[in-house]
Amino acid sequence: MKYRITKAIRKQVDRTNEMEHSAPLFLTSSFCFDNAEEMRAAFADESDDNIYSRFSNPNVQEFIDRICLLEGAEAGFATASGMSAVFASFMALLKNGDHLLSCNAIFGSTHTVITKYLPKYGIEYSYFPVDKPEEWEALIRPNTKMIYVETPTNPGLEIIDLERISALAKKHNIILNVDNCFATPVCQQPINFGADLVVHSATKWLDGQGRVLGGVVVGRKDLIKEIFLFCRSTGPSLSPFNAWILSKSVETLEVRMERHASNALFLAEKLEGHQKINWVKYPFLSSHPQHAVAKKQMSDGGGIVCFEVKGGVEAGRKFLDSLQILSLTANLGDTRSIASHPGSTTHAKLTEAERQTVGITPGLIRISVGLENREDILDDILQALNQI
Ligand SMILES: Cc1ncc(COP(=O)(O)O)c(C=O)c1O
Repeated sequence: MKYRITKAIRKQVDRTNEMEHSAPLFLTSSFCFDNAEEMRAAFADESDDNIYSRFSNPNVQEFIDRICLLEGAEAGFATASGMSAVFASFMALLKNGDHLLSCNAIFGSTHTVITKYLPKYGIEYSYFPVDKPEEWEALIRPNTKMIYVETPTNPGLEIIDLERISALAKKHNIILNVDNCFATPVCQQPINFGADLVVHSATKWLDGQGRVLGGVVVGRKDLIKEIFLFCRSTGPSLSPFNAWILSKSVETLEVRMERHASNALFLAEKLEGHQKINWVKYPFLSSHPQHAVAKKQMSDGGGIVCFEVKGGVEAGRKFLDSLQILSLTANLGDTRSIASHPGSTTHAKLTEAERQTVGITPGLIRISVGLENREDILDDILQALNQI
């Protein structure tokens, strides 16, 4: 097998005596041993035998192996949600006195972890502006241990040059940790550009059907070992059932993402220049400020399109109320298209100034473009725009 997608699709837990084709569900909390010696060896890390599903489980391992193949990673660990993957990657690798440098446009809960919880453990943080790469290096401190980036960012779709940030991380011997949730490994492989770790909210495109929560972190073996040891004791493990769902979803990830991305590009192109819209943002639109970087590191533009309706918060709310097909829900990365208005929902708790800094303007609308017929998605958006 030459191709990583084929390898990821074909990778599967060993077939049982039942000769099943699809992987069975190993819904078990613990695993048995034939004798005391085997049990001792497993506990002494002298064998890879499963012990307990908080540590490892065949379904969870299959999901991890598939993501490692897609991302080109040495090892991984899967968690109960994207946030537990992010949190574990911080807590396992940072200690009192260390400094975390993160891009300023990040997912809201990650911002909360960084600003509210890391300082409780004596871990310092600062943010770098995603749109001013010339300022990044000056923000590195002698105690900077990790650089954390999201690209594309949620919800503003800023693109960070992975090659540039990883060169800085390497120069200063800092771990580069990339949240690859928006791009998915089908479209972007941060490890190829020098990332040490990649985290995912598997809840989004990896599941792709809005069913289960999950997270995964993959990357350098020595770093994953620390994350595994942290998680094995603290318990944010992925349930075997969710792993079974997520692992199956990996088999259709590439075809789904191709359709999400082509629908998204179609929408972005059709909406650009609309009289009720100030601007449209999509990584593969030539008007995107970091279009060249997006083209360098992504194979398509992903499934999210953002635009700003004229008329601010009220127009944004009116737009959502006028939609007839698209769902109003907090998730993204579903087969069904979703619209959200960050200014009045996910980012409502930020001050106006904080929202402006990360590009969340009052009329910003985020569309997670689904797999419906693209004309139907467009028609729904156009008729809703007509109502404002
Ligand atoms: C970019 C990004 N990272 C992390 C998360 C957190 O994932 P989860 O909701 O699975 O904990 C999200 C959730 O929306 C996200 O969009």
